[in-house]
Amino acid sequence: MFGSPTQIKTPAQLLHMERAGHYVARMLQLVREAIRPGISTAALDRIAFDYLERAGAHPNFLGYHGYPATLCISVNDRVVHGIPDAATVIVDGDVVSVDGGCYVTDESGTQWHGDSAFSLVVGEGSSQDRGLVDATETALWAALAALGTGDRLGVVGRAVEDVVAEHQRRTGQRLAIVKEYVGHGIGTAMHMPPDVPNFATRERGMRLKPGMVFAVEPILASGSPSNQVLDDEWTVVTRDGSAAAHWEHTVAIVRGGIRVLTALDGGAAGLAPYGVTPATIG
Ligand code: MF3
Ligand code: CO
Repeated sequence: MFGSPTQIKTPAQLLHMERAGHYVARMLQLVREAIRPGISTAALDRIAFDYLERAGAHPNFLGYHGYPATLCISVNDRVVHGIPDAATVIVDGDVVSVDGGCYVTDESGTQWHGDSAFSLVVGEGSSQDRGLVDATETALWAALAALGTGDRLGVVGRAVEDVVAEHQRRTGQRLAIVKEYVGHGIGTAMHMPPDVPNFATRERGMRLKPGMVFAVEPILASGSPSNQVLDDEWTVVTRDGSAAAHWEHTVAIVRGGIRVLTALDGGAAGLAPYGVTPATIG
C-alpha cells in the first residue's frame, strides 16, 4: 500500500508544534484540576475554551467535521468523542477521559497542531477501573519509549499489546484494545497520514525519520471492545456498557530520539522508567 507521504518538519516548525503542545498540556492540566463530583462536562469544556482564548491559541476540535466543542469528554462506557453537555455531571467513581487539542499559527499563517488525552478515576473508584486507566497510561508511555529506541512505526502497536499482556499476567485483569480508532500523523492539520495502530500488524511500519510527528493514542476497554456510535453521530460507546480509557500524546521524532510535545517536561518523567531521555529539538 502506498499512503500519502508523511510530513517532515524542520526544527523551527517543531518548535511551533511544541508551543501548541504546551498550550494543550496546560489546558488539560486545568481541566484535570477541575474534575470533581458535581461538575458538568459542559463546564469542563468551558474551562478549556476560555484557557485557549486567553492564551491566544485556537481549539482544533471545535468545528472539525462539525464537532461542537473544544474537548471530547468520554465518561465510563463512552469510549471516545463524548460531546460535553450540561446534563452529564461527574459523580464519584466515574472513569473520565478528556481529549483536547489546539493549534498556533506561525509568521506565515500556517497552523501547527497539538493533540493529547488523559483518563482518570474520580475519587477512589474500583480497582478494575484504576487498573484500566493505569494500564492505558502505561501503554502510551511504553509506546512512546519504543519510538525513542526503535526505528519503525510498528513498535507502537507491539508495545501496546505487550503492556496489555503483561497487565493480565500481573493482575489477572483482561483488557481489550479498541482497534477501530488509531493514532495519526499531525502537523499543519490535526489528522494527517499515516495511521498509527495500537496493535501489531504484519507490516513493521514505516521507517522513523527526524521531523516526523505522531499522535499516539491507545484506547483500552475493560470488557468487550465491541463499540458503536450513538445517534449524536460522535459519541462512541462500548456495546456491553463496560468502561474504556484513552491516553494520548503528540510526539516528535528528532535527531537522537524523541520529544513529547504535549508534555511540559518533554516526556522526561514518563519515559524515565524505560531509560529514555527526551532529546532536544534541532
Ligand atoms: N483528538 C481526537 C483524536 O485524538 C479527535 C477528536 S475528533 C474531534 O484524534 F472532532 F473532536 F475533533
Ligand atoms: Co488524536
